[in-house]
Amino acid sequence: MSGTIYVETYGCQMNLADSELIRGHVAAHGYATTDDPAAADVILVNTCAIREHAEERVVGRLTDLARLKARRRDLVLGICGCMAQHHRAALAARVPALDLVVGPDAYRRLPALLAAARTARTGDRERETTAAARAGGDVDPRVDVRLDPDETYADLPTARAAGAVRAWITVMRGCDKFCTFCVVPYVRGRERSLPVDAVLAQVRAAAASGAREVVFLGQTVNAYRDGDCDLAALLRRAAEVPGVLRLRFTSPHPADMSPALIAAMAEVSAVAPQLHLPVQSGSDAVLARMERGHTVAEYRGLVARLRDAVPDLALSTDVIVGFPGESPADFEATCRLVDEIGYDHAFLFKYSPRSLTKAARWEDSVAEEEKSRRLAHLIALQEEISAARNRRWIGRSVEVLVEGPARRSRDCVAGKTPQFLTTVVAADAAPGTRLMAVVTGATAHTLIATPTDAYAAGRDASRAA
Ligand code: 5AD
Ligand code: SF4
Repeated sequence: MSGTIYVETYGCQMNLADSELIRGHVAAHGYATTDDPAAADVILVNTCAIREHAEERVVGRLTDLARLKARRRDLVLGICGCMAQHHRAALAARVPALDLVVGPDAYRRLPALLAAARTARTGDRERETTAAARAGGDVDPRVDVRLDPDETYADLPTARAAGAVRAWITVMRGCDKFCTFCVVPYVRGRERSLPVDAVLAQVRAAAASGAREVVFLGQTVNAYRDGDCDLAALLRRAAEVPGVLRLRFTSPHPADMSPALIAAMAEVSAVAPQLHLPVQSGSDAVLARMERGHTVAEYRGLVARLRDAVPDLALSTDVIVGFPGESPADFEATCRLVDEIGYDHAFLFKYSPRSLTKAARWEDSVAEEEKSRRLAHLIALQEEISAARNRRWIGRSVEVLVEGPARRSRDCVAGKTPQFLTTVVAADAAPGTRLMAVVTGATAHTLIATPTDAYAAGRDASRAA
């Protein structure tokens, strides 16, 4: 069955990568991708379950998209990803316009599920039943949320955006950590890694299609393991792929930052000096209740080892405020730690109780207004820190990997430094070009830079690669 599909993505980079996987897989079964939901035969919304706010946004969006069904009798509306897995049949009941609810381990069956749903929409019940049976569908043929501890999709084609400078490659899926606030282990299932050869084949394919930077993705990416190949070894092997100028990985868990991985970061020049290292809280009492598996002192020690090993390392983090039982003193400890570490960037969240998790059974003890107050305080603190960290680059020469025209200025290009700092350069250079530039200004979110003499050399070098 052929047609057009529109996939809309919410949530993290893994979801964006999953949407590319979905597009690639259904394309092999005759589905062309469209950017216009009104022109699609199938609309799939790939969703996030990490916080309630994310879920509410999706319900609103589904209600909007459902209106298109009034005009198109054969249009299929589906939801996939973490929220589909989280709420399953209850979601189909809450949003009656849904024709499909597909969990993150069921994408292999999507072509059959889509065929069944489209047949059902056009009223051919007999074909629907056969297709649903083939798909191994749940009792409700609209719902497929079977988790599969072995599913890595290693053999399925991915539809990467053509010409993209950065390729996001999922190397492991799932999570075994069970932090008490987090729904991920329940909706994404157990940890499993892609075979190293499958990952390297994807790296080679991405480089061949023009990608110059590769980001390895996983919920706990540094738990990657295929036989004796861990993430450190994988990075070393990926660095040998011609055309790959920079390698990153996200998100690592502090407890899995092995000496071998730190050594790979220090020794492999393609591995960028940048790390997203979620801390969640600066209070030992809160970290213990979160079951994060480390103390503040251990985290601090890890950061010191990383900074010793990797000069100019950029660090970012995730912090949750208002976790059950977080006292004013706990929150102050978090602010002190954020200040002390001096993150270049931080993602800051209000705690949101998630059903299935351990913490959801505890009293959500910090009032909403207090959570908002703590969040605003931390955001203001981090803005100051980011601005100061960025100002330290003024006067220094940086290498910018150009991604495209700058958003606000037509005469400039924008790209990232090795530290993943967004940099606007007054130059005309194609995406994928590396250019050297001196930083002349900085805000909390952007560096401004002027190209230097090494500009031409940088461009030639990246062309030759
Ligand atoms: N409430 C708020 N933030 C959460 N995160 C995960 N679960 C929750 C939750 N229940 C945050 C964590 C994690 C990031 C991806 O999302 O900080 O690192
Ligand atoms: Fe969630 Fe913790 Fe796993 Fe990260 S490590 S995905 S926060 S359970």
